[in-house]
Amino acid sequence: MSQWQPDSWRAKPILQQPTYDDKQQLSAVEKKLKSYPPLVFAAETRQLFKQLGNVAEGKGFLLQGGDCAESFNEFNAPKIRDTFKVILQMAIVLTFAGRCPVTKVARMAGQYAKPRSGDFETIDGVSLPSYRGDIINSFEFTEGARRPDPQRMVEAYNQSAATLNLLRAFAQGGLADLNEVNRWNMAFVDNNPLKERYQDIAQRIQESLEFMGVMGINPTNTPTLHETMLFTSHEALLLNYEQALTRVDTLTGNWYNCSAHMLWIGERTRQLDHAHLEFFRGIHNPIGVKVGPSMGEDELIQLIDALNPENTAGRLTLITRMGADNLEKNLPRLLRRVKQEGRKVVWSSDPMHGNTIKASSGFKTRNFDAILREIQQFFAAHKAEGTHAGGIHLEMTGQHVTECTGGAYQISDDDLAQAYKTQCDPRLNADQVLEMAFLVADHLRVK
Ligand code: PEP
Ligand code: CO
Repeated sequence: MSQWQPDSWRAKPILQQPTYDDKQQLSAVEKKLKSYPPLVFAAETRQLFKQLGNVAEGKGFLLQGGDCAESFNEFNAPKIRDTFKVILQMAIVLTFAGRCPVTKVARMAGQYAKPRSGDFETIDGVSLPSYRGDIINSFEFTEGARRPDPQRMVEAYNQSAATLNLLRAFAQGGLADLNEVNRWNMAFVDNNPLKERYQDIAQRIQESLEFMGVMGINPTNTPTLHETMLFTSHEALLLNYEQALTRVDTLTGNWYNCSAHMLWIGERTRQLDHAHLEFFRGIHNPIGVKVGPSMGEDELIQLIDALNPENTAGRLTLITRMGADNLEKNLPRLLRRVKQEGRKVVWSSDPMHGNTIKASSGFKTRNFDAILREIQQFFAAHKAEGTHAGGIHLEMTGQHVTECTGGAYQISDDDLAQAYKTQCDPRLNADQVLEMAFLVADHLRVK
């Protein structure tokens, strides 16, 4: 294989990229970003790598979640705080139920680039370039807004830096206190229409924390009760941006993409001979690849070997997004083959992207029960094949949006218009995502 360089992807075919009119402005922005400080530190990335290594070996669980697409307009502290809170609330439930450490990875602080099914969007006979995420163009349906603007990469960097700064402050500064987190869960359970179904776990966590308190184990003498580590991740789609933030780590001499701790390749850009594979093979971060129902067994092994030739546990997470109706047919054959060939991967379930439908009201939506069904089948398939169901990957928000139907509050097609705020795919709201955590906990308990 030819020698890797941060820019060697440029010689390969590439999909899902914008066409910038002003090439000079583009390279000026790339140059500027290259001179900016990294957003994450390589040693943190190695810490995540290690944790994911344990997950690959069946000794942990990965919880990854956040926005489908972060937005420049909806950029404020309450939004970041609320998503941070629900990730922690989910994590405590899953840790307790699974009796194993949960690695928390946010789809935040950089999730700004989106692959699209078409290059153009047509409304009332007018066709304009598709919205490709705030790092590229603007959501508004006007010609000017849809023109790709390189300067947006600088704005994405700045907003990522500010988001990360707040996440770090929350994680270290007291908002991650386990006693507090479970109190939020108790309040969630108390107010939920399906209270009986969920109260057992929250109550038992509360008792465990109280017991520890009585035994003298408290946040003052045990910092892990009071602070946490939340890693960041996004789809590394816009390689101009990702390359500019790829740096040599002075401690190891290896290349790291310092735009986030973990990066993944989307379902639409994972071709073996294309640019994204080329870029990803050279960075030393833990990485993910989305795996849809059309993935072949041989193709998957080739993909694994291209990205993780040394078969290191923790390097590669396969994020399966089959759809509840396709999983039974397509996941077991992949699990079997990867196990047979002895490849070490983390298997994580994205139950969102294979279950997107158009509601009668016209909104793009997903149903709570379909999402849950995909997760249940994911656990069942792993149990049958003797492999480890290692994680879940959700599109979610801490806000009270109405984008996915179902759940205890029974959001219907007609309710979607009330608070449909996503710029891209429908997300689970705070209540739905916590319900999901309590329901997934049941599977972890019987595993
Ligand atoms: C996503 O995760 O938002 C996404 C576009 O997923 P996929 O590549 O699986 O379609
Ligand atoms: Co999405």
